[in-house]
Amino acid sequence: MKHLTSIRDLTKDSAIALLDSAQQLTQVNQRTVKNLPALRGKTVVNLFYENSTRTRISFEIAAKRLSADVINFDAQTSSASKGESLKDTAQTLEALGAAAIVVRHPMSGAAHALANRGWISASVINAGDGRHEHPTQALLDSLTIRQLKNSGTDLSGIKVLIIGDIENSRVARSNILLLVMLGATVSVAGPTNLLPQGISALGAKVHENFDQAIADKPDVVMMLRVQLERMLESQVFTTSQYIENWSLDQARLGELGKATIIMHPGPMNRGLEISNQAANDSRSAVLRQVENGLAVRMAVLHRVLSGSDSS
Ligand code: NCD
Repeated sequence: MKHLTSIRDLTKDSAIALLDSAQQLTQVNQRTVKNLPALRGKTVVNLFYENSTRTRISFEIAAKRLSADVINFDAQTSSASKGESLKDTAQTLEALGAAAIVVRHPMSGAAHALANRGWISASVINAGDGRHEHPTQALLDSLTIRQLKNSGTDLSGIKVLIIGDIENSRVARSNILLLVMLGATVSVAGPTNLLPQGISALGAKVHENFDQAIADKPDVVMMLRVQLERMLESQVFTTSQYIENWSLDQARLGELGKATIIMHPGPMNRGLEISNQAANDSRSAVLRQVENGLAVRMAVLHRVLSGSDSS
């Protein structure tokens, strides 16, 4: 596998293989000496045109744990702010020795363009492109579900409910693709104007409202951030209405099963899509998700840069 720009780059087998190697790497991350020599001499560039905390830092630590050299490119302080194109920037980074470019960009399709237009020969990993995809987030979410629900290697029999601003969420899109591929049953619910058309064609069932969705007894409830920065005027809502209908508040928290896990990709808007109580609940897997992000990104970097695997 040379690039990871979409979950569609993976087959069920290759996704499971990545989750297996990430699971092994979680053990390396528990050791006193956490470094492996696997990517010594290779340079990884984090090319981020949007803000990020978890994703950027975990790609950086992941590359360092594998002994790669890491450069963090910040669009705000670089020539990108002088209007340099993505193509010219990427070619410049490659001329400086980048073997892999981890890209986050507000334009859907940016990572795919970088990987497939013949501009560069470096590996490309998508760290989020517009509303489109965020494949490493989906992988770390599946790893978390696999660990906490003690499922087999795939996720057959697991019921995952995704709630909120689905339309603007690359996390939701990548998760639906991967969860369905791994055999989970996926359902979604959210305000009608934030549900994309054709969502059921991806294999997700649509619930009318949050309470009906909870009555379906999900094993996992994945809350999404309300992504105001991506919303069109027609999608804007009143906060009190959103909280009433779509927040994981204390009452809904009380309706969830004892073993139901609560997920959120972060950053959380506490008090909006998720209450403080839910974010702090013992069933919350939010920090486990962050921790697993490191192992998943190590596995992905290793896979795309190890060179021996052409699948
Ligand atoms: C997500 C993103 O940037 O797509 N964050 C993340 O990577 N953990 C989700 C979000 O911004 O809401």
